Amino acid sequence: MITLHNVTKRYGTFKAIQSISLNIKAGEIHGIIGASGAGKSTLLRMMNLLEKPDEGDVIINNKKLNHLKGKEIRHIRQLLGMIFQGYHLVGNKTVFDNVAVALEIAKITKKDRTERVMESLRFVGLETYKDQYPSQLSGGQKQRVAIARAIVNNPKVLLCDEPTSALDSKTTTEILEVLKQINQQFNVTIVIVSHELEVIRSLAERVTVMADGQIYDVVDIEPTGVNKFEKGAAAFVEQLKSGGDTNLS
Ligand SMILES: Nc1ncnc2c1ncn2[C@@H]1O[C@H](COP(=O)(O)OP(=O)(O)OP(=O)(O)O)[C@@H](O)[C@H]1O
Ligand SMILES: [Mg+2]
Repeated sequence: MITLHNVTKRYGTFKAIQSISLNIKAGEIHGIIGASGAGKSTLLRMMNLLEKPDEGDVIINNKKLNHLKGKEIRHIRQLLGMIFQGYHLVGNKTVFDNVAVALEIAKITKKDRTERVMESLRFVGLETYKDQYPSQLSGGQKQRVAIARAIVNNPKVLLCDEPTSALDSKTTTEILEVLKQINQQFNVTIVIVSHELEVIRSLAERVTVMADGQIYDVVDIEPTGVNKFEKGAAAFVEQLKSGGDTNLS
């Protein structure tokens, strides 16, 4: 579904991403975990070319994204919804209008637009909130609006950057459940960045563990039993959290 091939990203002389290759399979829930500054957000943002790689290729549905022009990139981006820790809602627009924005760009008729927005809001359980403004909502509700906005275009992939990091544990569980449903009901591939082990463990099927702009390991999470993630990567992440030496080189 998404392939990164020898992708490098520099900010000045600093290499935020160092020649990473990674394949996200269609239909999977893929976690990306690592310490602050490891390059998780940069890696995710390269998947929809919000960041352009300095070297290497980003390939989506067999198309090399980094060689496409603006219009073609916008077209491909419609396949990729994105949600963020800080929701990124527009404060002076209603819940309905926040979700409708993505469709206005795609020039869809008003009737279809209304149907699709309401369908998305119903999916996240917020149809009765359509005329409210973001400031009237809780964090969990705001993230639901952001999810509705991200899925209103029927994307193939949902890119999630720390979607639950600002939420309490009960709301986190609810939001993760919504993401799971999106994956199962619509077969949407999900890439989720988090520094929280529990979030990754409860949602992801496969996990990329990052450190210092590189991939430390890609591991499968098995629903039962102790697996490689439990033994190796989890210990590694704990070590990262406690500021231990990562010994990557
Ligand atoms: N626009 C930028 N200009 C300069 N440096 C940047 C920029 N964006 C990111 N970086 C640097 O690149 C590295 C990776 O950043 P990134 O935001 O991808 O990390 P992260 O793993 O998402 O961290 P966090 O868990 O704190 O969100 C960091 O050292 C960061 O300071
Ligand atoms: Mg980040």
